[in-house]
Amino acid sequence: MSIEIRGLTKHYGTTRAADGIDLVLGDSVQVLALIGPSGGGKSTLLRLVGGLERPEEGTIRIDGAEMPRDEESLRLWRRQNGFLFQSFNLFPHLTALENIILPLVEVHGWKRGEADARAREVVARFGMGAHLEKHPAQLSGGQQQRIALARAMAHEPALLLLDEPTSALDPEMKAEVLDLIEELCQAGQRIILSTHEMGFARGSADAVVFLGAGRVVESGSAAELFDHPRSAIVQAFLSKVMKW
Ligand SMILES: Nc1ncnc2c1ncn2[C@@H]1O[C@H](COP(=O)(O)OP(=O)(O)O)[C@@H](O)[C@H]1O
Ligand SMILES: [Mg+2]
Repeated sequence: MSIEIRGLTKHYGTTRAADGIDLVLGDSVQVLALIGPSGGGKSTLLRLVGGLERPEEGTIRIDGAEMPRDEESLRLWRRQNGFLFQSFNLFPHLTALENIILPLVEVHGWKRGEADARAREVVARFGMGAHLEKHPAQLSGGQQQRIALARAMAHEPALLLLDEPTSALDPEMKAEVLDLIEELCQAGQRIILSTHEMGFARGSADAVVFLGAGRVVESGSAAELFDHPRSAIVQAFLSKVMKW
């Protein structure tokens, strides 16, 4: 996918969460990883690209199409994307199956029967077929995140946005969710994810962007950024997080 972001700004009070983000990436990028320190602007950028929030200034183009500003068109833009956040945001009172069916019906306007069939299909693909009727509290963190990922993928989003999808998980569960995301990458799914899993970013992302203080500090291929970081900020960050 091609991505063209120009002068993107978003403030929260006096905090410049996005402070003039400029980023141009060519068509060869299928999986983009956002890395950098906490508070650097990764979540903000994901929300802006997904259309969950509106920037004060700047433009976002994906494959040449500019993100619209009016609410009605923005809703369509949002619907083309799938979202997964760090902490499991499944509805606790619904079964795994119902958690996937509900947005298909309510947000995407599917008929219930179609939504049911699709939910079962995607849950089976994600190896969770035995857990359809369980409630989130009856599932492990990794299983909950797999259901949340199935939900994000159920409507076949053009672009999947993952915000630190494994940060709240134990190591073993982390691995099982990363395996699943890796499978999606292999299957050609377009993904933008923020992550602290440097090994995953290095192995699976075509392009890596380092965000700090609401700006792009450095961007490039995974090999360029991890093996030959140019800026002192990225060098210091990597030497800290890669130390152990
Ligand atoms: N909803 C919000 N309200 C107020 N401040 C926010 C909000 N979201 C993010 N911020 C602030 O914006 C900055 C960037 O945050 P964020 O995009 O969450 O960074 P990251 O995901 O890289 O940790 C931080 O200083 C954060 O405290
Ligand atoms: Mg974040």
